[in-house]
Amino acid sequence: MKTCQTPGCEKEAKLQCPTCLKLGLDNFFCNQDCFKGSWVEHKKVHQKTKSALETVNRVLEQTNPWPNYKFTGPLRPVYPLSKKRLVPAHIARPDYADHPEGFPAGEREAKMARCMKVLNDEEIEAMRVVGRISREILDEGAAAVAVGVTTDELDRIVHEATVERESYPSPLNYHKFPKSCCTSVNECICHGIPDNRKLEDGDLVNIDVTAYHRGFHGDLNETLFVGNVDEQSKKLVQVAHECLYKSIDIVKPGEKYREVGNVITKHASANSFSVVRTYCGHGINDLFHTSPTVPHYAKNKAVGIMKPGHTFTIEPMISAGSFRDATWPDDWTSVTIDGKRSAQFEQTLLCTENGVEILTERRSKGGQPYFMD
Ligand code: MF3
Ligand code: CO
Ligand code: CO
Repeated sequence: MKTCQTPGCEKEAKLQCPTCLKLGLDNFFCNQDCFKGSWVEHKKVHQKTKSALETVNRVLEQTNPWPNYKFTGPLRPVYPLSKKRLVPAHIARPDYADHPEGFPAGEREAKMARCMKVLNDEEIEAMRVVGRISREILDEGAAAVAVGVTTDELDRIVHEATVERESYPSPLNYHKFPKSCCTSVNECICHGIPDNRKLEDGDLVNIDVTAYHRGFHGDLNETLFVGNVDEQSKKLVQVAHECLYKSIDIVKPGEKYREVGNVITKHASANSFSVVRTYCGHGINDLFHTSPTVPHYAKNKAVGIMKPGHTFTIEPMISAGSFRDATWPDDWTSVTIDGKRSAQFEQTLLCTENGVEILTERRSKGGQPYFMD
């Protein structure tokens, strides 16, 4: 039950403020009189939200963002970014969605508690549901990949597919990330911001989708080919995918989280590719990123042992040259230091009594990745 927004009025409230509804705010009043009585105070809430939105949009709209930055490779941002996409008020939002700095308070609390969550049957079922939903969303984005399509257009499709499924796009406002998914092209390792760059023949593009549905997150990504891709890039993508699946193969109760990185690095090295160290797989449940941390590199010191009811991602980033990364001045886009290409695959996993369930696995074509279609 919603209670009336008027301070001191605790009555049940079914009348929704229309301006709030448009702004994605969930504010209710008990009746018209109460609404009118509160108007002078209440409209300040609108003003505050509108001016925050205007500030965000001013930043998004500027062109030629960093004239003096020395890029590591040929990829460039293409600004202006499109306006911030809104999520209807009736969809449940994670705690950071409305925080001015996009700060996930729940993640910090969990970090202090330092424990690894074992999900009960009901929570596991909720993770299955959001896993399926996030996969369907990625499928819609993947179907739109073609020469000439902008990454912002992919973001629009992902955003709409997410909202259609009564879900919140987890990246939106997470630590102030400005869009609803990550799109990482060529030498971009991860966390690329969808912009007005058109996909070009021969590009690699990774789409990373996370959805939040009824209190739980599902997270996956795939790297796709745009038009005709060179043989070395094809090999890179193939090996990145094999790295993920070889590591999924060892998931079972009693396995150490630190083993994942040994399996991945062995396969990447055997193919003369490198493994990115800065970004790791992560626990995922009612929090987007939580313990365990799952490094993809060998001889890591990750803590923890897999147990039935743990949900986490594995998401290796495999690079053609150096494993080292740099971050663009947007504070998000991670690129290889040498400008060579990088590829990534991610699934959300459930450790079961017998082994593993891939919660975000593709439902068609026997689960095969898009680059093999
Ligand atoms: N989806 C990414 C991951 O796999 C995280 C993206 S954070 C964002 O963990 F803010 F960039 F969305
Ligand atoms: Co992830
Ligand atoms: Co992800």
